[in-house]
Amino acid sequence: MKGRIPEPVYYGDYLKLNELLATQSPKSAEYGKEEHEETLFIIVHQVYELWFKQIIHDFGSIVNVFNKNAIEESELGTVVSRLERIIKIQGLLLEQLDVMETMTPMDFLEFRDLLVPASGFQSAQFREIEIRMGLGTGNRIAVDREYFLGRLNDQDRERLTKIEKEPSLLELLEKWLERVPFTQEGNFDFWKEFESVVSEMLDQEQSIIERNKATLAPEMMNAQLANLESTRETFQSLLSSDTHEKLMKEGQRKLSQKATLNALFILLYRDEPILTQPYKFLQLLMDIDQGFTTWRYRHALMAHRMLGTKIGTGGSSGHLYLKRAADNNRVYTDIFNLSTFLIPRSKLPTLPVDVKKKLNFYFSEDLN
Ligand code: HEM
Repeated sequence: MKGRIPEPVYYGDYLKLNELLATQSPKSAEYGKEEHEETLFIIVHQVYELWFKQIIHDFGSIVNVFNKNAIEESELGTVVSRLERIIKIQGLLLEQLDVMETMTPMDFLEFRDLLVPASGFQSAQFREIEIRMGLGTGNRIAVDREYFLGRLNDQDRERLTKIEKEPSLLELLEKWLERVPFTQEGNFDFWKEFESVVSEMLDQEQSIIERNKATLAPEMMNAQLANLESTRETFQSLLSSDTHEKLMKEGQRKLSQKATLNALFILLYRDEPILTQPYKFLQLLMDIDQGFTTWRYRHALMAHRMLGTKIGTGGSSGHLYLKRAADNNRVYTDIFNLSTFLIPRSKLPTLPVDVKKKLNFYFSEDLN
């Protein structure tokens, strides 16, 4: 910047290394015999918390972009590159568990009892990431809800309760998807076309099964027909607003029908230039969900290896609780589930010319 004469900076001052490197205080030392492995235990957790801080920093900026009524194409580019960075960080988070496991279960036993009742349950930053992604208290398993806020100090509990009232990326994603145009233009109703293509496809399958009557055992044929009927019902559940509503009430779907359909449209027409970034964005949301789920399973395995069937320092059943939380605590499952409704490219309804033009970066002489 013009006119700015920077002061010389010293590496250690800039990074506040004196402060940072003075923050490892093994509990075992306080009790008279410092356990060598406790330093590793502390540093690994601290490094995690630093990366959580970076994830929250990037995720916050993504939420800010979506917390508006219109999003510029270039902003979506920034969102995509920040999400890509978070996914790279998740790779490190996973790898760090290997470093943690160089401490053996018996080494851990030398200081574990000194840590009770401190536990990963109290990682307020991990909870913040979950909440900002869209995993609210209401989406947790009952036991998890109790641990979720119950183990925190007042300050962390109040902060997280406040964050939970702010819009999560899941909620903002829903609003953004609801605004996606293209599927209803003049007389064109994409979902009517889609429904008739699907119905034609399934009718064809039915006639193939029935044509095989001579070679198929009756039970086999009935099973195949029943299977086909259930596929029909699944597609109906997507296209019928009543069924969708019912599934939302039961907690089986999180996004509104409009948002779900528009997300499917993005997946189906991902090759259209205007949909490539939105498609990438949806892929990255699945990657993030998958990254944390993989970490949760891997962490559950580590807890099993370290503790066997002992309970955790935070009082949960230990690895069994962690496995259940990994199964349950997913956020963007609706996007994963969309694969159910994909159809072959060759069967995709042809879009009217004006819709096709809108999906392309259309350069006209008239604009010059
Ligand atoms: C020796 C290593 C570790 C063991 C044995 C272990 C064990 C456990 C156990 C048993 C729980 C369930 C809560 C409880 O009852 O305490 C838990 C929760 C948790 N741990 Fe660890 N952990 C270890 C290392 C780590 C590390 C390095 C991190 C990184 C930040 C971490 C983060 C968490 C988080 C975020 C939770 C809450 C998970 C949830 O509720 O979904 N843990 N851990």
